[in-house]
Amino acid sequence: VDIYFLFSGLIGRSWAMVFAAGGFKVKLYDIAQQQLTSALENIRKQMKELEESGFLKGALSVEQQLALITVCTDLKAAIEGATFIQECTPENLELKRKIFGQLDLIVGDNVILSSSTSCLLPSKLFTGLKHVKQCIVSHPVNPPYFVPLVEIVPHPETDPSTTETTYALMKKIGQSPVKLNREIEGFVLNRLQYAVISEAWRLVG
Ligand code: NAI
Repeated sequence: VDIYFLFSGLIGRSWAMVFAAGGFKVKLYDIAQQQLTSALENIRKQMKELEESGFLKGALSVEQQLALITVCTDLKAAIEGATFIQECTPENLELKRKIFGQLDLIVGDNVILSSSTSCLLPSKLFTGLKHVKQCIVSHPVNPPYFVPLVEIVPHPETDPSTTETTYALMKKIGQSPVKLNREIEGFVLNRLQYAVISEAWRLVG
């Protein structure tokens, strides 16, 4: 079973639940141990509630899914054995570039570096990285556990195999991925969503 590696905020937690429901091992990484402890507590609570209401995803029980999720505050240890890294740090270009710069130095040639960013274009995030061919944006909707759409956006230098593997993985865990051939300012999902929201407000008005 492959190991995945994420960050433990709002989106990271929800991704972790999606991957665990799909039967994949997940390693949550964060800078703060407290954040990881509360992530695990929150995930357990959410899974229990989902089980009670009959909405728990996947074929495994809550305990089996929880057993797939481990936590780690050391970046090197966290990525050991990882084949897919879903970055979920705050929406801050400088911070994300720093994280991808660190990962770039320690990952091998077969790991996919995927970002949850909702606004930052792949050319801003990944240009100049040694492993740029392995980089991609997998933009979820909040929360990915309930809204399966994932917008997959490659960098101009992303290898097609990275896009295909990411697409196949998203399908495998039950998401509904959509592939973009190239990046576009604002992303497609946001632009469509904002048009619908604006129209809804106009209707209310
Ligand atoms: P969040 O603030 O809930 O979580 C961010 C996590 O990153 C926290 O656990 C924090 O401790 C950790 N972190 C901060 N600095 C770090 C560092 N230097 N190294 C490692 N971990 C660090 O943020 P949220 O809402 O989960 O967003 C994460 C990403 O997902 C953002 O890029 C956001 O744009 C994207 N996204 C968010 C959506 C939303 O509606 N919240 C929807 C779609 C995408």
